[in-house]
Amino acid sequence: MIFGRLAWIAGVACIAAAVAVQLVPVERTNPPSLGTLAAPPEIEATLKRACYDCHSSATRWPWYSHVAPVSWLVVRDVNLGRKEVNFSAWGRYYPVTRRRKLEWIGRALRDGKMPPWNYRLMHPDARLTAADQAALEQWVEAALATPSTERSK
Ligand code: HEC
Repeated sequence: MIFGRLAWIAGVACIAAAVAVQLVPVERTNPPSLGTLAAPPEIEATLKRACYDCHSSATRWPWYSHVAPVSWLVVRDVNLGRKEVNFSAWGRYYPVTRRRKLEWIGRALRDGKMPPWNYRLMHPDARLTAADQAALEQWVEAALATPSTERSK
């Protein structure tokens, strides 16, 4: 009897905590673009599908990004991702910065590190086929082989 009542109290406490945690403010931002990168349309389409949710200001916030505590993890990933590589700020990067980011992208692709596995699990459409992967790697290589015409300031 006493255990029944305890279980009931514990249940109510859990639900109350799950509701209360929704009240912690999280900021899901989509700031204006500062100049996106110019890539061939098929490369851009792949990047948009597989990378833009965390590496641009055009994030498509999924339903679970509105439910704490998962929302905290999603927002953290997006903020971290944008800090590393932001395709919506590409126009603002110095040429030397762009090259460095392109090198990172090539490495992340070769290592199969991006998009992250937990994201691929939730977004089957973001998975890269072998052909997507090869096309992206080729694009990175070509971009790195082209000497920059812009002079860095
Ligand atoms: C679910 C969010 C998410 C998606 C989608 C995603 N990334 Fe990331 N990415 C991150 C986070 C978070 C970091 C920073 C922490 C880390 O390195 O794991 C990061 C870091 C990076 C870095 C920095 C260097 C490195 O290797 O750590 C590169 C380059 C990168 N991502 C490229 C990509 C590319 C290319 C795609 C698409 C094919 C992609 N990412 C998709 C979240 C994401």
